[in-house]
Amino acid sequence: MNLCARLLPPRLWLIALVCGPGTPLPRAAETINAPELFITHCAPCHGPDGRARTPAARKLGVKDLTESKLADPEIRRQITEGKNDKGGKQLMPSFREKLHGDEITALIAEVKKFRK
Ligand code: HEC
Repeated sequence: MNLCARLLPPRLWLIALVCGPGTPLPRAAETINAPELFITHCAPCHGPDGRARTPAARKLGVKDLTESKLADPEIRRQITEGKNDKGGKQLMPSFREKLHGDEITALIAEVKKFRK
């Protein structure tokens, strides 16, 4: 076994082989830290407790996530596409460019934990 093969864990080695050089390795689900993602991307508006008691929230009319009743596909759409008001002013940004699909999946579960 050569040195490279010994350094890479078997699964990553296989991915590197299949995808070829230069392909970013997909982020494994177990490395996703949903609470941290929420604090970084969502808490500035939704608040660390999801209750939208932030200055930005009052201005934008952010919804209290503990009261949310949205189903998973609607939450995914909200995070992926964001939300504009009727006049086209952005209320919540789209996270399509910022988050991977599996990060959004983790955030859906995270958001639902705020529910009573
Ligand atoms: C710039 C502020 C802002 C940021 C950042 C933000 N949101 Fe929002 N979010 C809003 C606003 C405003 C609404 C209410 C939109 C409306 O009136 O329907 C909302 C609504 C939601 C809803 C729907 C709640 C409901 O029941 O209707 C979910 C779920 C949600 N946000 C999740 C997230 C997640 C997860 C993140 C981070 C990835 C995030 N938001 C980041 C402002 C924000």
